[in-house]
Amino acid sequence: MQSQSLSYTDEVAKATAPLFEKLSNQYERDHWETLAPYIYEINRLKKEKNAVILAHNYMTPDVFFGVGDVVGDSLMLAQKAAESDADIIVQCGVHFMAETSKILCPEKKVLIPDMKAGCSLSESITAEDVRQLKKKHPGIPIVTYVNTSADVKAESDVCCTSSNALKIVNALGKQGHDTVIMTPDMYLAKNVAAETNVKVIFWEGACMVHERFTPQDIIDARKTYDDLIVLAHPECPPEVMAEADYAGSTAQMDTFIKEKQPKRAMLMTECSMSDNIAASNPGVEMIGTCQMCPHMKRITLPKILEALQTEQPEVIIDPALGKRAKVAVDRMLELS
Ligand code: 13P
Ligand code: SF4
Repeated sequence: MQSQSLSYTDEVAKATAPLFEKLSNQYERDHWETLAPYIYEINRLKKEKNAVILAHNYMTPDVFFGVGDVVGDSLMLAQKAAESDADIIVQCGVHFMAETSKILCPEKKVLIPDMKAGCSLSESITAEDVRQLKKKHPGIPIVTYVNTSADVKAESDVCCTSSNALKIVNALGKQGHDTVIMTPDMYLAKNVAAETNVKVIFWEGACMVHERFTPQDIIDARKTYDDLIVLAHPECPPEVMAEADYAGSTAQMDTFIKEKQPKRAMLMTECSMSDNIAASNPGVEMIGTCQMCPHMKRITLPKILEALQTEQPEVIIDPALGKRAKVAVDRMLELS
Protein backbone atom coordinates (compact mmCIF):
# COMPACT_ATOMS: atom_id res chain seq x y z
CA MET A 1 0.00 0.00 0.00
CA GLN A 2 1.33 3.45 -0.94
CA SER A 3 0.51 4.83 2.51
CA GLN A 4 3.08 2.51 4.18
CA SER A 5 5.96 4.41 2.52
CA LEU A 6 4.84 7.78 3.87
CA SER A 7 7.48 9.53 5.90
CA TYR A 8 8.02 12.80 7.75
CA THR A 9 10.28 14.55 5.25
CA ASP A 10 11.51 18.15 5.46
CA GLU A 11 8.91 19.06 2.86
CA VAL A 12 6.10 17.53 4.96
CA ALA A 13 7.42 19.20 8.11
CA LYS A 14 7.54 22.61 6.38
CA ALA A 15 4.08 22.29 4.84
CA THR A 16 2.44 21.21 8.11
CA ALA A 17 4.39 23.43 10.54
CA PRO A 18 1.68 26.16 10.89
CA LEU A 19 -0.92 23.49 11.60
CA PHE A 20 1.27 21.79 14.18
CA GLU A 21 1.67 25.12 15.91
CA LYS A 22 -2.10 25.52 16.05
CA LEU A 23 -2.60 21.98 17.34
CA SER A 24 0.42 21.77 19.63
CA ASN A 25 -1.84 21.47 22.70
CA GLN A 26 -3.52 18.43 21.13
CA TYR A 27 -0.60 16.42 19.75
CA GLU A 28 2.88 15.54 21.03
CA ARG A 29 5.60 15.99 18.40
CA ASP A 30 6.16 12.20 18.01
CA HIS A 31 2.49 11.64 17.35
CA TRP A 32 2.34 14.59 14.96
CA GLU A 33 5.20 13.16 12.91
CA THR A 34 3.07 10.08 12.21
CA LEU A 35 0.02 12.17 11.21
CA ALA A 36 1.61 14.93 9.11
CA PRO A 37 2.67 12.68 6.17
CA TYR A 38 -0.96 11.58 5.79
CA ILE A 39 -2.19 15.16 5.86
CA TYR A 40 0.35 16.13 3.22
CA GLU A 41 -0.43 13.20 0.92
CA ILE A 42 -4.23 13.50 1.28
CA ASN A 43 -4.07 17.19 0.40
CA ARG A 44 -1.90 16.44 -2.64
CA LEU A 45 -4.12 13.61 -3.84
CA LYS A 46 -7.40 15.43 -3.39
CA LYS A 47 -6.16 18.22 -5.69
CA GLU A 48 -5.00 15.68 -8.26
CA LYS A 49 -8.41 13.97 -8.22
CA ASN A 50 -10.55 17.12 -7.90
CA ALA A 51 -11.97 15.78 -4.66
CA VAL A 52 -13.48 17.77 -1.83
CA ILE A 53 -13.38 16.64 1.79
CA LEU A 54 -16.47 17.46 3.84
CA ALA A 55 -15.58 17.13 7.52
CA HIS A 56 -18.13 17.19 10.32
CA ASN A 57 -17.43 19.12 13.52
CA TYR A 58 -16.93 15.79 15.37
CA MET A 59 -13.84 14.86 13.35
CA THR A 60 -10.60 14.76 15.34
CA PRO A 61 -8.44 17.91 14.91
CA ASP A 62 -5.95 16.20 12.54
CA VAL A 63 -8.80 15.48 10.10
CA PHE A 64 -10.85 18.60 10.82
CA PHE A 65 -8.05 21.15 10.41
CA GLY A 66 -5.60 19.03 8.42
CA VAL A 67 -7.64 17.87 5.43
CA GLY A 68 -11.22 19.24 5.69
CA ASP A 69 -12.11 21.62 2.84
CA VAL A 70 -15.58 22.27 4.17
CA VAL A 71 -16.18 21.89 7.89
CA GLY A 72 -19.42 22.31 9.78
CA ASP A 73 -22.68 20.82 10.99
CA SER A 74 -24.97 18.48 9.07
CA LEU A 75 -26.87 21.32 7.41
CA MET A 76 -23.75 23.17 6.30
CA LEU A 77 -22.16 20.01 4.86
CA ALA A 78 -25.35 19.20 2.93
CA GLN A 79 -25.55 22.75 1.55
CA LYS A 80 -21.90 22.72 0.48
CA ALA A 81 -22.21 19.26 -1.09
CA ALA A 82 -25.09 20.60 -3.19
CA GLU A 83 -22.94 23.55 -4.38
CA SER A 84 -19.69 21.66 -4.95
CA ASP A 85 -18.16 21.25 -8.43
CA ALA A 86 -15.72 18.52 -7.32
CA ASP A 87 -15.81 15.12 -9.05
CA ILE A 88 -15.40 13.23 -5.79
CA ILE A 89 -16.80 13.95 -2.34
CA VAL A 90 -15.04 12.31 0.60
CA GLN A 91 -17.44 12.45 3.52
CA CYS A 92 -15.63 12.58 6.82
CA GLY A 93 -18.57 11.93 9.05
CA VAL A 94 -21.09 9.14 9.39
CA HIS A 95 -22.95 7.14 6.75
CA PHE A 96 -26.18 9.15 6.71
CA MET A 97 -24.14 12.28 5.93
CA ALA A 98 -22.51 10.57 2.96
CA GLU A 99 -25.94 9.40 1.79
CA THR A 100 -27.25 12.96 2.05
CA SER A 101 -24.38 14.13 -0.18
CA LYS A 102 -25.15 11.37 -2.69
CA ILE A 103 -28.87 12.25 -2.65
CA LEU A 104 -27.99 15.87 -3.44
CA CYS A 105 -25.22 15.05 -5.95
CA PRO A 106 -26.16 11.74 -7.61
CA GLU A 107 -23.70 12.38 -10.46
CA LYS A 108 -20.70 12.61 -8.12
CA LYS A 109 -18.67 9.80 -6.62
CA VAL A 110 -19.27 9.93 -2.86
CA LEU A 111 -16.78 8.07 -0.67
CA ILE A 112 -16.93 7.34 3.03
CA PRO A 113 -13.63 6.20 4.56
CA ASP A 114 -15.39 3.58 6.72
CA MET A 115 -18.74 2.07 5.74
CA LYS A 116 -19.30 1.00 9.34
CA ALA A 117 -19.53 4.61 10.54
CA GLY A 118 -23.21 4.42 11.48
CA CYS A 119 -25.48 6.31 13.87
CA SER A 120 -27.79 5.08 16.64
CA LEU A 121 -30.52 7.48 15.52
CA SER A 122 -30.36 6.29 11.95
CA GLU A 123 -30.56 2.69 13.12
CA SER A 124 -33.62 3.34 15.31
CA ILE A 125 -36.11 3.66 12.44
CA THR A 126 -36.86 1.95 9.12
CA ALA A 127 -38.84 2.96 6.05
CA GLU A 128 -41.53 0.45 7.09
CA ASP A 129 -41.80 2.20 10.49
CA VAL A 130 -42.46 5.49 8.68
CA ARG A 131 -45.09 3.87 6.42
CA GLN A 132 -46.85 2.56 9.56
CA LEU A 133 -46.71 6.02 11.16
CA LYS A 134 -48.32 7.51 8.05
CA LYS A 135 -51.08 4.90 8.19
CA LYS A 136 -51.70 5.62 11.86
CA HIS A 137 -51.68 9.43 11.42
CA PRO A 138 -52.92 10.13 7.88
CA GLY A 139 -52.32 13.66 6.58
CA ILE A 140 -49.87 14.62 9.33
CA PRO A 141 -46.50 15.70 7.90
CA ILE A 142 -43.46 13.63 8.77
CA VAL A 143 -40.44 15.75 9.68
CA THR A 144 -37.39 13.51 9.63
CA TYR A 145 -34.03 14.34 11.11
CA VAL A 146 -31.23 14.02 8.55
CA ASN A 147 -29.70 11.39 10.85
CA THR A 148 -31.62 8.69 8.95
CA SER A 149 -31.14 6.39 5.96
CA ALA A 150 -32.11 7.38 2.41
CA ASP A 151 -35.03 4.87 2.62
CA VAL A 152 -36.45 6.69 5.64
CA LYS A 153 -35.97 10.12 4.02
CA ALA A 154 -37.78 8.84 0.91
CA GLU A 155 -40.89 8.13 3.02
CA SER A 156 -40.78 11.54 4.75
CA ASP A 157 -42.27 14.91 3.81
CA VAL A 158 -39.39 17.11 4.89
CA CYS A 159 -36.02 16.67 6.58
CA CYS A 160 -34.55 18.81 9.32
CA THR A 161 -31.26 19.16 11.15
CA SER A 162 -30.65 20.30 14.70
CA SER A 163 -30.07 23.84 13.43
CA ASN A 164 -33.35 24.24 11.56
CA ALA A 165 -35.81 21.81 13.22
CA LEU A 166 -37.79 24.53 15.01
CA LYS A 167 -37.88 26.70 11.89
CA ILE A 168 -39.21 23.83 9.81
CA VAL A 169 -41.88 22.81 12.32
CA ASN A 170 -43.00 26.46 12.60
CA ALA A 171 -43.06 26.78 8.81
CA LEU A 172 -45.37 23.77 8.64
CA GLY A 173 -47.48 25.37 11.38
CA LYS A 174 -47.82 28.53 9.23
CA GLN A 175 -48.93 26.32 6.34
CA GLY A 176 -51.88 25.22 8.50
CA HIS A 177 -50.55 22.02 10.13
CA ASP A 178 -51.41 22.02 13.83
CA THR A 179 -49.60 18.68 14.37
CA VAL A 180 -46.40 17.15 12.94
CA ILE A 181 -44.59 13.85 13.46
CA MET A 182 -40.87 14.16 14.21
CA THR A 183 -38.62 11.14 13.69
CA PRO A 184 -36.45 9.57 14.96
CA ASP A 185 -34.93 11.62 17.81
CA MET A 186 -37.37 11.92 20.71
CA TYR A 187 -35.19 14.46 22.51
CA LEU A 188 -34.89 16.79 19.53
CA ALA A 189 -38.68 16.43 19.11
CA LYS A 190 -39.34 17.22 22.77
CA ASN A 191 -36.95 20.18 22.71
CA VAL A 192 -38.69 21.56 19.62
CA ALA A 193 -42.14 20.89 21.15
CA ALA A 194 -41.17 23.05 24.13
CA GLU A 195 -40.70 26.04 21.81
CA THR A 196 -43.56 25.78 19.33
CA ASN A 197 -47.36 25.89 19.30
CA VAL A 198 -47.43 23.00 16.84
CA LYS A 199 -48.22 19.66 18.47
CA VAL A 200 -45.35 17.20 18.01
CA ILE A 201 -45.76 13.43 17.88
CA PHE A 202 -42.39 11.76 18.38
CA TRP A 203 -40.59 8.49 17.67
CA GLU A 204 -38.59 6.95 20.51
CA GLY A 205 -35.09 7.09 19.03
CA ALA A 206 -32.11 8.68 20.78
CA CYS A 207 -28.48 9.49 20.14
CA MET A 208 -26.31 7.06 22.12
CA VAL A 209 -23.86 9.90 22.78
CA HIS A 210 -26.11 12.78 23.84
CA GLU A 211 -28.56 10.71 25.88
CA ARG A 212 -25.73 9.99 28.33
CA PHE A 213 -25.50 13.58 29.57
CA THR A 214 -27.34 14.44 32.78
CA PRO A 215 -28.33 17.74 34.44
CA GLN A 216 -26.05 16.71 37.32
CA ASP A 217 -23.02 16.96 34.98
CA ILE A 218 -23.80 20.66 34.62
CA ILE A 219 -24.68 21.27 38.27
CA ASP A 220 -21.40 19.64 39.37
CA ALA A 221 -19.28 21.60 36.90
CA ARG A 222 -20.86 24.89 37.96
CA LYS A 223 -19.85 24.14 41.58
CA THR A 224 -16.20 24.26 40.46
CA TYR A 225 -16.52 27.03 37.85
CA ASP A 226 -19.14 29.61 38.74
CA ASP A 227 -18.52 31.56 35.52
CA LEU A 228 -19.04 28.54 33.27
CA ILE A 229 -21.09 28.92 30.07
CA VAL A 230 -22.76 25.64 29.11
CA LEU A 231 -23.80 24.88 25.55
CA ALA A 232 -25.94 21.83 24.78
CA HIS A 233 -26.80 20.04 21.56
CA PRO A 234 -30.58 19.58 21.01
CA GLU A 235 -30.11 15.79 20.96
CA CYS A 236 -29.64 16.06 24.75
CA PRO A 237 -32.60 15.27 27.04
CA PRO A 238 -34.81 18.30 27.90
CA GLU A 239 -33.63 18.24 31.57
CA VAL A 240 -30.07 18.82 30.33
CA MET A 241 -31.21 21.62 28.00
CA ALA A 242 -32.97 23.27 30.95
CA GLU A 243 -29.66 23.54 32.85
CA ALA A 244 -27.69 24.87 29.86
CA ASP A 245 -27.15 28.52 28.88
CA TYR A 246 -27.42 27.97 25.14
CA ALA A 247 -28.74 25.28 22.80
CA GLY A 248 -27.73 24.80 19.21
CA SER A 249 -26.36 22.60 16.47
CA THR A 250 -22.63 21.97 16.39
CA ALA A 251 -22.12 24.93 14.02
CA GLN A 252 -24.30 27.19 16.13
CA MET A 253 -22.24 26.32 19.23
CA ASP A 254 -19.07 27.06 17.30
CA THR A 255 -20.40 30.47 16.24
CA PHE A 256 -21.54 31.25 19.78
CA ILE A 257 -18.04 30.62 21.18
CA LYS A 258 -16.33 32.55 18.36
CA GLU A 259 -18.56 35.57 18.87
CA LYS A 260 -18.96 35.64 22.66
CA GLN A 261 -15.47 34.39 23.64
CA PRO A 262 -16.56 33.29 27.14
CA LYS A 263 -13.77 32.79 29.68
CA ARG A 264 -14.82 29.16 30.27
CA ALA A 265 -17.22 26.95 28.34
CA MET A 266 -18.46 23.39 28.51
CA LEU A 267 -20.08 21.61 25.58
CA MET A 268 -22.67 18.91 26.10
CA THR A 269 -21.71 17.14 22.91
CA GLU A 270 -19.06 14.96 21.27
CA CYS A 271 -15.46 15.25 22.51
CA SER A 272 -13.69 16.31 19.31
CA MET A 273 -15.95 19.34 19.01
CA SER A 274 -14.40 20.74 22.21
CA ASP A 275 -10.89 19.98 20.93
CA ASN A 276 -11.58 21.79 17.64
CA ILE A 277 -13.13 24.78 19.38
CA ALA A 278 -10.20 24.94 21.83
CA ALA A 279 -7.71 25.02 18.94
CA SER A 280 -9.56 27.90 17.24
CA ASN A 281 -10.28 29.88 20.41
CA PRO A 282 -7.12 29.90 22.54
CA GLY A 283 -8.64 32.51 24.87
CA VAL A 284 -11.51 30.22 25.90
CA GLU A 285 -10.88 27.49 28.46
CA MET A 286 -12.85 24.39 27.47
CA ILE A 287 -13.99 22.31 30.44
CA GLY A 288 -14.89 18.55 30.23
CA THR A 289 -17.36 16.84 30.04
CA CYS A 290 -17.76 15.15 26.74
CA GLN A 291 -18.93 11.85 25.27
CA MET A 292 -17.24 10.03 22.39
CA CYS A 293 -19.18 8.96 19.27
CA PRO A 294 -17.60 5.63 18.28
CA HIS A 295 -19.01 5.94 14.76
CA MET A 296 -17.43 9.31 14.05
CA LYS A 297 -14.14 8.03 15.48
CA ARG A 298 -13.95 5.37 12.75
CA ILE A 299 -12.87 8.08 10.31
CA THR A 300 -9.10 8.39 10.47
CA LEU A 301 -6.36 9.84 8.25
CA PRO A 302 -5.11 6.43 6.99
CA LYS A 303 -8.66 5.44 6.00
CA ILE A 304 -9.22 8.78 4.25
CA LEU A 305 -6.03 8.32 2.26
CA GLU A 306 -6.97 4.77 1.32
CA ALA A 307 -10.44 5.92 0.22
CA LEU A 308 -8.88 8.56 -2.04
CA GLN A 309 -6.34 6.13 -3.46
CA THR A 310 -8.79 3.31 -4.17
CA GLU A 311 -11.93 5.46 -4.66
CA GLN A 312 -13.66 3.02 -2.33
CA PRO A 313 -15.86 2.48 -0.38
CA GLU A 314 -18.38 4.30 -2.52
CA VAL A 315 -21.88 5.20 -1.33
CA ILE A 316 -24.44 3.99 -3.86
CA ILE A 317 -28.14 4.80 -3.74
CA ASP A 318 -30.74 3.45 -6.11
CA PRO A 319 -31.48 6.50 -8.37
CA ALA A 320 -35.27 6.21 -8.00
CA LEU A 321 -34.98 6.04 -4.20
CA GLY A 322 -32.48 8.91 -4.23
CA LYS A 323 -34.95 11.09 -6.18
CA ARG A 324 -37.69 10.43 -3.63
CA ALA A 325 -35.36 11.15 -0.72
CA LYS A 326 -34.17 14.35 -2.44
CA VAL A 327 -37.68 15.81 -2.29
CA ALA A 328 -37.54 15.83 1.53
CA VAL A 329 -33.94 17.13 1.66
CA ASP A 330 -34.62 19.86 -0.94
CA ARG A 331 -37.71 20.94 0.96
CA MET A 332 -35.55 21.31 4.06
CA LEU A 333 -32.92 23.36 2.18
CA GLU A 334 -35.67 25.63 0.80
CA LEU A 335 -37.19 26.17 4.26
CA SER A 336 -33.75 26.81 5.83
P1 13P B 1 -25.18 18.71 13.84
O1 13P B 1 -26.13 18.82 12.70
O2 13P B 1 -25.49 19.67 14.95
O3 13P B 1 -23.78 18.84 13.36
O4 13P B 1 -25.36 17.28 14.52
C1 13P B 1 -25.06 16.09 13.87
C2 13P B 1 -24.94 14.98 14.81
O5 13P B 1 -24.81 13.85 14.43
C3 13P B 1 -24.99 15.29 16.21
O6 13P B 1 -24.86 14.17 16.94
FE1 SF4 C 1 -25.38 9.60 15.54
FE2 SF4 C 1 -25.13 10.52 17.99
FE3 SF4 C 1 -22.94 9.80 16.69
FE4 SF4 C 1 -24.30 12.04 15.97
S1 SF4 C 1 -23.21 11.67 17.88
S2 SF4 C 1 -23.53 10.45 14.61
S3 SF4 C 1 -26.41 11.39 16.38
S4 SF4 C 1 -24.62 8.45 17.31
